[in-house]
Amino acid sequence: MLKDILRSKGATFKASDDIPLNPNPKVTFDKVTESRYEQRAMPKEAISARAAADRRYLWEEVSHGVDETHHVAPGYSAEILIRWGDPVFADSPPFDPMNQSAAAQRKQFGYNNDYLGYIGLPLGSDNPDHGLLCVNHEYTNEEMMFPGIGRQDNKGFADMTEELVDIELAAHGGTVIELKREGGRWRVVTDGQYNRRITGGDTEMEIAGPAAGHYRMKTSADPAGVVCIGTLNNCAGGITPWGTYLMAEENFHHYFGGILKNGHPEARNYRRCGVPSDWCAWPKFHKRFDINAEPNEANRFGWVVEVDVFDPNSRPKKRTALGRFKHEGAEPIVNSDGRVVVYMGDDQRFDYLYRFVSEGRYSPDDRPANMDLLDSGTLSVARFYEDGSLEWLPLVHGEGPLTAENGFYSQADVVIEARTAADMLGATPMDRPEDVEPNPWADKVYVMLTNNSARTADAVDSPNPRGPNHFGQIVELSPPEGNHTAERFTWELLVVAGNPKYSESGAMYHEATSENGWFGSPDNCCVDARGRLWVSTDQGPNWMKTGNADGLFGLETEGDLRGYSKMFFRTPIGAELCSPRFTADNGTLFVAVQHPGTDGTEHFPGFERNSTFEDPATRWPDFTEDMPPRPSVVVIQKNDGGEIGT
Ligand code: FEO
Ligand code: CA
Ligand code: CA
Repeated sequence: MLKDILRSKGATFKASDDIPLNPNPKVTFDKVTESRYEQRAMPKEAISARAAADRRYLWEEVSHGVDETHHVAPGYSAEILIRWGDPVFADSPPFDPMNQSAAAQRKQFGYNNDYLGYIGLPLGSDNPDHGLLCVNHEYTNEEMMFPGIGRQDNKGFADMTEELVDIELAAHGGTVIELKREGGRWRVVTDGQYNRRITGGDTEMEIAGPAAGHYRMKTSADPAGVVCIGTLNNCAGGITPWGTYLMAEENFHHYFGGILKNGHPEARNYRRCGVPSDWCAWPKFHKRFDINAEPNEANRFGWVVEVDVFDPNSRPKKRTALGRFKHEGAEPIVNSDGRVVVYMGDDQRFDYLYRFVSEGRYSPDDRPANMDLLDSGTLSVARFYEDGSLEWLPLVHGEGPLTAENGFYSQADVVIEARTAADMLGATPMDRPEDVEPNPWADKVYVMLTNNSARTADAVDSPNPRGPNHFGQIVELSPPEGNHTAERFTWELLVVAGNPKYSESGAMYHEATSENGWFGSPDNCCVDARGRLWVSTDQGPNWMKTGNADGLFGLETEGDLRGYSKMFFRTPIGAELCSPRFTADNGTLFVAVQHPGTDGTEHFPGFERNSTFEDPATRWPDFTEDMPPRPSVVVIQKNDGGEIGT
């Protein structure tokens, strides 16, 4: 029902990730008291704060608003680096939107660029002028990609053909592409030796870790349960210190169809993940996406995938030790004792925050020794407490309720049904955990919580203080003495998003934040080379609630200015902003503009309808009649060649 409402409003494909699936989104501790909330209010010393603001945020703020194109702060360039359909290889065919093919798409830049990772070349360097860009292609918007498909108002897109579905499969996954900066300008190197397209339809992936070879991973195409075709819905991700690329599989349920009856062997598991969603036409042409024809295929998605970008022929590995859920991202950090810690959010209303700690230790001088570090370790889920502490609860087979009586016969069962295991441990249901980013300069970890309109006023708690929550919040975690493997952390709210001008919004920022500096729905983020936090937003169907386009904001985390936010970049109508990523010298900032023309267009004055291929709200970035809007990577530099944001 909710799904139908979302569709009829022209919400994007991804809006259905809003539907809560946690059967018991209970509050794990008493409702927040007013005094506790007050205690966390931002500093108010406006005068000294403004003086400090001038010192650290020396760009002229971009204004809120909505129009057809992107905007960056004055004094900066924001150029298109690569667009959907652009060549990834020297022999890639030119993009022709009226004559697309799966074969062409396999050699062209995929759709809906999301995560961006940058690895300097050669391996081990911080080269800010030459590197590999690792790009996730999260999902496809059929009505924007293909002529004649129209809005998604019919179940499964009735007019989709097998060839169009195969183009979609090829437009998913990722791209690894070499980049070079010469004479101050970035270009893609289409004959780069590491260039690679990873797709949903034909890239073989190894299943690694505790679920490898388990009977619940076996299919008719892979009776051993060790090789999967493709990766899907790759949202955010991470780059490891040993130069591999992590791709997080998020809303994998979207691709599966069929009927989930009680007798289905994966009934409990699939209900908890929303499988099948029957959203797209794929099961019609590829039986593996039909849960009745192939009951285990959906267990082979929802993982973190690790790619050795320095071997373009290598099989990416699905690292099952990191659990199976709707992974927003996977940001690693090396703990002081050498163990590798990966922070992960499960992006659904009332789902959880996770952490993985490797058993082995990182060897800075021995890359091969690091290549399988993510196969063994401890996955934990977060439980927040009212006293400002947080406990990491280990998801370990045989411990607590994770036993055969509850359907967990081995660690494979625990990782395959990580959500259910976390439910049983009493994890804290959160307001859609998106990016989770460690800050190595400050020994902090920032958790983006994007929104949760299903949280009710009587079900709020301290880390999720509003119900309904249309605008999200950012929670800051503090590992004790910088120990990311500790069992207990402390936490604070960093900002509560929304418009602080209206006290009823419950928004909390530093009061020096201008009328353009606040935001709604924090989604992705990064920490730059000075340890500063940058936050990008994705309002989804909530554009009308702020009246503003998505964008990128600098957000102060330390000192007198803590909670001060300033707008730096704004997307064209209907787009969300993904990544962001800086080079190691802060001289270049890459951002990904995803699904231009789709979100909120029905409220865009003068347009006021849903976009299609033929009739989009914007034709960004080409602005020619023969080209639909194209998701693109934008490269931002300061005109004087200096450091961004100073
Ligand atoms: Fe793909 Fe949760 O954003
Ligand atoms: Ca996201
Ligand atoms: Ca996103």
